[in-house]
Amino acid sequence: MNGLIDIQQLSVSEIDELIGVAEDIIANPEKYSQKLKGKKIATLFYEPSTRTRLSFESAMLELGGSVIGFSDSDSSSASKGESVADTVRVISCFADIIAMRHPKEGAPLVADMYATVPVINAGDGGHYHPTQTLADLLTIKREKGRLTDMTVGLCGDLKFGRTVHSLLGAMSRYSGVDFILISPEELKIPESVKTDILDRRGSSYVETASLTEAMPKLDILYMTRIQRERFASEDDYQRLKDSYILTADKLKDAKEDMRILHPLPRVNEISVDVDSDPRACYFKQVLNGKFIRMALILKLLGVK
Ligand code: CP
Repeated sequence: MNGLIDIQQLSVSEIDELIGVAEDIIANPEKYSQKLKGKKIATLFYEPSTRTRLSFESAMLELGGSVIGFSDSDSSSASKGESVADTVRVISCFADIIAMRHPKEGAPLVADMYATVPVINAGDGGHYHPTQTLADLLTIKREKGRLTDMTVGLCGDLKFGRTVHSLLGAMSRYSGVDFILISPEELKIPESVKTDILDRRGSSYVETASLTEAMPKLDILYMTRIQRERFASEDDYQRLKDSYILTADKLKDAKEDMRILHPLPRVNEISVDVDSDPRACYFKQVLNGKFIRMALILKLLGVK
């Protein structure tokens, strides 16, 4: 495998190294501004995106490279029936690296098997979103100074939330991290994630439906959107969509140094009155996403 499909491909030391490079990019952006002159990234987005696509594109531009791609598969030959395998064989003729988002779980893995350049999974269905996880880890490291010894609450759609699955895959490898999994019964974390990640690693976790009870214990609160596009029934979505709405008032029992993350986009699950709270980090998280993607592109292209 040339690219990055699942965060678990990276060892803890590789993740720490990427975080180190991202921090160096933040401190010394001019040092990196021509590193990828003459190189191209192709962003192949078969599903909507604002942050991930534009942060990959900004990342490549800020490294001195350039960008090709599509943001709507209807404007590509996928609409004529071209397979992902053929598409990436073609794009490998034009670009040095590919970032792909696809609604089908496993599509970026297939792409990485057929491409002759590295493929980065920019989100596949309800499966994984490894670069969002890298953005989350960089944010937690910068805000808390560590990735160990903390209680992380993940709240909302833990069933379909691919960012949750990837974050558990990464943070379960750091010592002293306890998880509180906060969701309605219908949106609990999949059994496969519990078995393959949490149980296999001996992680400490509890499941609850109560954000209020969990709040005072948390060092990190990771809010998520209820993923409307993954529901088979609109009625079920309507019933569950407002399961958790974080407001400034609900933060009164939270630790002073707790941090609130959200991969965004948000719909209703964080009230705008939380945005001005110093514990709210979700817009910093977006910016961190660009820096860590810069570090990842450099790594996958073998550029120091
Ligand atoms: N966090 C995230 O994946 O956002 P986009 O869907 O806008 O890319």
